[in-house]
Amino acid sequence: MDNEKVLVLDFGGQYNQLIARRVRECNVYCEVKPFTKAKEALAAEKYKAIILTGGPASVYEEGSPKCDKSLFEAGIPVLGICYGAQLMTYVLGGKVEKAAKREYGNAALSLEDSLLFNDVAKKTTCWMSHTDYIKDLPEGFKVVATTDSCPCAAMENGTAGLYAVQFHPEVVNTPEGTKIIRNFLYNVARVKGDWKMADFAQNMIAKIKDKVGADKALCALSGGVDSSVAAVLMHKAIGKQLTCIFVDHGLLRKNERQQVEEVFKNTFDMNLIVVDAKERFLSKLAGVTDPEQKRKIIGEEFIRVFEDEAKKLGEVKYLVQGTIYPDVIESGLGDSAKIKSHHNVGGLPKNVSFSEIIEPLRDLFKDEVRKVGLELGIPASLVWRQPFPGPGLGVRIIGDITAEKVAILQDADAIFREEIAAAGLDKDINQYFAVLTNMKSVGVMGDGRTYDYTIGLRAVETTDFMTADFSRIPFDILARVSNRIVNEVKSVNRIVYDITSKPPATIEWE
Ligand code: XMP
Repeated sequence: MDNEKVLVLDFGGQYNQLIARRVRECNVYCEVKPFTKAKEALAAEKYKAIILTGGPASVYEEGSPKCDKSLFEAGIPVLGICYGAQLMTYVLGGKVEKAAKREYGNAALSLEDSLLFNDVAKKTTCWMSHTDYIKDLPEGFKVVATTDSCPCAAMENGTAGLYAVQFHPEVVNTPEGTKIIRNFLYNVARVKGDWKMADFAQNMIAKIKDKVGADKALCALSGGVDSSVAAVLMHKAIGKQLTCIFVDHGLLRKNERQQVEEVFKNTFDMNLIVVDAKERFLSKLAGVTDPEQKRKIIGEEFIRVFEDEAKKLGEVKYLVQGTIYPDVIESGLGDSAKIKSHHNVGGLPKNVSFSEIIEPLRDLFKDEVRKVGLELGIPASLVWRQPFPGPGLGVRIIGDITAEKVAILQDADAIFREEIAAAGLDKDINQYFAVLTNMKSVGVMGDGRTYDYTIGLRAVETTDFMTADFSRIPFDILARVSNRIVNEVKSVNRIVYDITSKPPATIEWE
């Protein structure tokens, strides 16, 4: 790719993904690399700017992550953020010390004139999260921002193109943060801003075409956003040289398989193999009640089915994975050589040999993947699909799994989803689904006694799915859902709404 590039050097901070994302929001392409790879990266690429991220260490501690002084002398503008600012200070001969008190949260920020603060009000607020502080500046630097408890909230050596901020411009709690990052990129590093999502798709398609040539590629399609976008990108590049395998493990939501077929077979005319493996999965799962055991069986069986189908295709050189950037980070500081076991499909096939894995989305964040998906013409309903776990309804049926229980849950879940969409709540609630509890209770219907299942409804609002709160769905909507399920779904006579947050509960029930 010929776009201008910014290197984000990762020192282990919790907001590092956000930095990369902010840079791209400024129409500049960037790559995040672990600090250990700085030399290699700089030798291999011509970067327009470098950003040093925050991190949990203290620069004066032995073994803390460091970078070489030469990094600041390469003539490439550098912005240090938090730990990155302290590191710049330390490496260039300034002094960093532990403060008497940790500064955490919003702080009033006073700014001096600086290229970094063009068009930013002189009094604003910022987000601070640090214990160490910059006590003495390195030679050639001056303070350009302060807070009440931080004598150097930002510093610069304009002639050398070196800038540092103690606060976090990448988080939303620093309202002028994106502007500050933009200023660094456009005023200091003088980028043109040549990155667009549309370019990404076109560049990636050209790159894949070039790489794959006349060879074949295989993709496990789950119907989720990531694998769908990866598959369509590949298809646009190599057409029928790509085969997608969709495994129907019988634990899908109602009509899900048909929707996948409609989009990929009919709309995109892709080589799609749909494997009906319901019986295979159900027989392996018969009588199994332990949630972990279920996950293991489903994950392993998925791989076996995939392998069986892949073998029938003969020689396939490439395996396509829908890995996205957060997955790369989670799998260990961007150490990309390792192949991440895709938790959606429970691992990688061992008995099929591919020479290479292609991960066309590995540099993108979820919302960027969605943008690419829309660019490629994937229907909005699929692009905005809520997450669905790899083990599917298998982890939403408490206790043992039978075909009858799957059917009950599919029907109840479809009603819940229909009503949430009809009420216009589907964009606000991040994940919502029904659970078949293993509990039966007494009810009365017509004049008769019933002894039937209880359905649990789960709906959560969350940004990262690591923590979540239950959604305050209006009672009248819950009442409608409840009424419809008990009337329309056989064997259900009671509905409960899950009002626990995560933690202590998890989003899924198993
Ligand atoms: P929990 O239940 O851990 O779920 O709060 C957090 C998010 O992860 C999804 N989830 C999974 N996704 N394979 C997946 O691909 C899995 O095994 C799995 N388990 C949970 C869950 O739906 C929620 O979005």
